[in-house]
Amino acid sequence: MFAIIGGTGMTQLSCLEISHRQIVRTPYGEPSGPLTFGRIKKQEIVFLARHGYGNTIPPHMVNYRANLWALHSLNPTRVVSVASVGGIFADLTPGKIVIPGQIIDHTYGREFTYFENTEKPITHIDFTEPYCGVTRGRIMEAAKLENEKIIDGGVYAATQGPRLETAAEINMLEREGADMVGMTGMPESALAKELGLRYATIAVVANYAAGRGTNKHAIRLEDVHDVLENAMFGVRKILERVVELDGH
Ligand code: HPA
Repeated sequence: MFAIIGGTGMTQLSCLEISHRQIVRTPYGEPSGPLTFGRIKKQEIVFLARHGYGNTIPPHMVNYRANLWALHSLNPTRVVSVASVGGIFADLTPGKIVIPGQIIDHTYGREFTYFENTEKPITHIDFTEPYCGVTRGRIMEAAKLENEKIIDGGVYAATQGPRLETAAEINMLEREGADMVGMTGMPESALAKELGLRYATIAVVANYAAGRGTNKHAIRLEDVHDVLENAMFGVRKILERVVELDGH
């Protein structure tokens, strides 16, 4: 079973032959919606829309613990998440697809760990490499086979949202080393690591970050929908191929 978490711009997977949906309860509450089961290229997959199927749950309200727990309970081979980001690094223009390699956490007040209220000894997970290298490699390979341009690596800064950043905040994030900015990468990637999941992210640049490119004085949100819709064609092709590669 291959798991996919869809983000903004991907609340459903058109390439998925759906077999059924299942409501799952976890010790951490309910996930963002029922899990959707089906097949891509004959491989079994499970899909979950991070923001709910109606795209109604904002990044700071997502029950990341329940989402990852529900997927983990199915013992998936890999978990690939799709996330939209703002581009900070000059090459990350709207529509580009990038596989982040590192992450910086600026979120707060979220339920961010499974290691609490247990009677077990304190656990510190290693998080030097936040994403699964093999899964990242598979995504790169799939993109190559599909002739889809994709950028290998980059630092994802996770902000709290739901507001977008100020231009000065983007400058600060860039000085820290961030190439892109999004609101959901944390705690999702850390929770995946705590559960030992083989997890990686396909980030889609939805807009220039605040103060960058054509967004010098404001982020034009009108364009975002079309940019994401177009980019998701490529993302779906890559996902189909990743799933196929995983089955061999
Ligand atoms: N900032 C934060 N998160 C985002 C952005 C952004 O500019 N675009 C898409 N997700």
